[in-house]
Amino acid sequence: MKQLNIGIIGIGRFGRLHLQVLQQLPGCKIVAIADTDEELLKQVKKENSIELLYTDAFDLIKNPAIDIVDIVSSEDTHGMFAIEAIKHGKHVFIEKPIATTYKEAVEIEQLAAEKNVQVMVGNISRFSTPYASIKKVIENDKLGEIGMIRAKRNFSKNWFDHFGKRVHPVYESGIHDLDLILWYVDSPCVEVYATERNVSGYTYPDLFSTVLTFENRIVASLDSAWLYPKGGPQNLVETLELDGTIDADIEVYGMKGTANFKLSHSGYSIWTEEEVLHPELTLWTTEQGKIGGAIHAELSHFIEIVRMNRHSNIAPIRDSVEALRIADAIVQSAAEKRIISL
Ligand SMILES: NC(=O)c1ccc[n+]([C@@H]2O[C@H](COP(=O)([O-])OP(=O)(O)OC[C@H]3O[C@@H](n4cnc5c(N)ncnc54)[C@H](O)[C@@H]3O)[C@@H](O)[C@H]2O)c1
Repeated sequence: MKQLNIGIIGIGRFGRLHLQVLQQLPGCKIVAIADTDEELLKQVKKENSIELLYTDAFDLIKNPAIDIVDIVSSEDTHGMFAIEAIKHGKHVFIEKPIATTYKEAVEIEQLAAEKNVQVMVGNISRFSTPYASIKKVIENDKLGEIGMIRAKRNFSKNWFDHFGKRVHPVYESGIHDLDLILWYVDSPCVEVYATERNVSGYTYPDLFSTVLTFENRIVASLDSAWLYPKGGPQNLVETLELDGTIDADIEVYGMKGTANFKLSHSGYSIWTEEEVLHPELTLWTTEQGKIGGAIHAELSHFIEIVRMNRHSNIAPIRDSVEALRIADAIVQSAAEKRIISL
């Protein structure tokens, strides 16, 4: 098996999780890491034997020894790094979102086709058993014709100190559900209405709510608020180095049945004098000392498509581009207080 040399851009919380998972995969070697934070780079160097460390990610991208660039940096850097990496003939994994503008997303898709490289976006939910099971149930026509989808994704308030200055929540929390809705609906979005509210006074709103209409007449609603209290049950424990709660629901209504999944409580609880834990059991579980769950399935799938040089049938880049088109329309609709037709 040919060794695949990987360079990771962004070694924050999620970059460190990617590093751990990729180190587990056979035939994969992390040879380089780039981050603007020199302290973080020093820390990673101490804990891992990574050969090349860069403060300028473009230097990592230029290195001809690197086969795969894994982009896990801040959201607004994804587009420029992906475009440059594809131009250098690299296979690219981009953490969600693909970019923060539709224009960049389209360029990424076009360049990937031109350069014949594999590009996949980290739409992790598609690799999570319950969400994938809902897709199967829809495909097997168990629910009949779908009429409506309702989704919500709320995050802890204390995370917003970090993200409220950095990215609109539609590209951070909402993008997960936009991707799921598109996957389940399987039809272009034709109309978007959204509204938002800024509670904390940061650059971006703490909450938004949107209604989407699709060409096949399915109506979907999605809301996301970053206002979950500190005392809420902790469901991200162990691997992600992040304390807090993801409270996400999705409900698919069909003419013959419904399917729904609640991410917030797996049914597993630990109560102590100090805290209530509801450890999440689908996304990045620790199994026999290794990281499993959806993140492992997703990155393994990406390595497999790179080795086989074929596009992903689970998370095609087209859907990520379409999700960005809708995300941009949500921001526009909320700003202009009107319905956006696509
Ligand atoms: N799939 C999921 O469920 C999931 C969960 C968490 C985060 N994420 C995604 O992972 C990415 C990183 O999020 P995070 O929570 O690790 O954030 P983070 O702030 O912890 O890490 C981001 C890192 O990127 C670095 N960075 C910023 N600009 C850079 C640049 N120009 N060049 C090189 N490095 C740069 C920062 O110094 C930081 O170390 C985001 O895209 C986020 O949406 C996905």
